[in-house]
Amino acid sequence: MQNFTFYNPTRILFGSGRIADLAREIPANARVLITYGGGSIVKAGTLAEVKAALAGFTVFEFAGIEPNPTYETLMQAVELARRERIDFLLAVGGGSVIDGTKFIAAAIPFVGDPWDILAKRAKIGSAIPFGSVLTLPATGSEMNNGAVITKRISNDKLAFMNRLLFPRFSLLDPTKTYTLPPRQVANGVVDAFVHITEQYLTYPDDAKVQDRFAEGLLLTLIEEGPKALQTPEDYAVRANLMWTATLALNGLIGAGVPNDWATHMLGHELTALHGLDHAQTLAVVLPAMLQVRREEKRGKLLQYADRIWGLREGDEETRIDQAIERTRQFFEALQVPTRLSGYGIGKDAIPALLAQLERHGMVALGEHSDLTLEGSRRVFELAA
Ligand code: NZQ
Ligand code: ZN
Repeated sequence: MQNFTFYNPTRILFGSGRIADLAREIPANARVLITYGGGSIVKAGTLAEVKAALAGFTVFEFAGIEPNPTYETLMQAVELARRERIDFLLAVGGGSVIDGTKFIAAAIPFVGDPWDILAKRAKIGSAIPFGSVLTLPATGSEMNNGAVITKRISNDKLAFMNRLLFPRFSLLDPTKTYTLPPRQVANGVVDAFVHITEQYLTYPDDAKVQDRFAEGLLLTLIEEGPKALQTPEDYAVRANLMWTATLALNGLIGAGVPNDWATHMLGHELTALHGLDHAQTLAVVLPAMLQVRREEKRGKLLQYADRIWGLREGDEETRIDQAIERTRQFFEALQVPTRLSGYGIGKDAIPALLAQLERHGMVALGEHSDLTLEGSRRVFELAA
């Protein structure tokens, strides 16, 4: 196990009916800006519930944060927040709304063009405090300090992290996920699954507790994910999925172990150029990535084959092939296609994807920092 520093200050309020507890988490007299997406929380009644819980606070709203939130939209919220002297942000929605709110929180006090926070890794001196009400278990954004923001005009989808950007609290009410369309339920399962593999399917490093945690989370997704599609209002299923997705990317299983993240970096370019949902990109890239990287990942792939898929018969090559195939079948069974062709994208798209990776400096990826553009080309070709 490697040396690590682990710090996670986000308070989690978990369970049904918890929105009533919101007011206690926000400083008295705060001027609160509620940020949200395209209206799912209005339709579901969640916005009204949140506003009722915040009676007595001065509350403003900013709607319209889109999936894969854009700098262009978020800067409108920054202007509103500066104008109204907002001192607390409350994100109500999925990963896009929470990520977007992290950017807003950092951009409000930023001097200069806040895009530099992403493009130039500009230092963030302070950030407006914020909390979240999660409606889509997937990204883990509710309990981490990362965000992914897109600049529409230049097709840049870039990630940033900062220790000032952990939510003060996140409220996880599993009943708020009942209204999710099947596509978003499946996306959430796939995204959480791939967050775990990015931190687990690397090379063995004697991190037994991280491995066992990761395996428990993967098995929960495999067991509960399909049930959420079959019986959408099963509280226990939703609760288990929600907590699993949060634990998959709150820093716990990734501490002290090698991390990969190459699948995510290739996936971001697919979203930037072709508009695929984040999880769809991962379902396409992961099986191909595991094939291309099977030598580097051999030890962990065999452990994954054994402990996750129960594959113990046959030689090593067969078990690895079968584990990758089972992964693909799991995603396909959730109705998430695992080939570029499933989204109408041909091999002719690959040069532009590689050019994007190069432009973004993504030329030495993975747990060994040795996945070059040539390696990424093989991954995209195998994913065609
Ligand atoms: O916009 P509204 O109307 O709210 O609808 C949303 C949106 O259309 C809808 N939705 C959310 N909750 C709902 C609901 N519909 C009905 N009922 C509900 N309860 O779902 C759609 C997708 O929402 P979005 O927030 O975009 O999805 P997700 O949570 O998957 O977030 C994806 C974004 O997170 C980033 C991705 O790159 C992408 O931009 N990620 C963030 C990470 C992080 N901060 O750590 C890590 C991830 O790897 C990921 O990159
Ligand atoms: Zn992800």
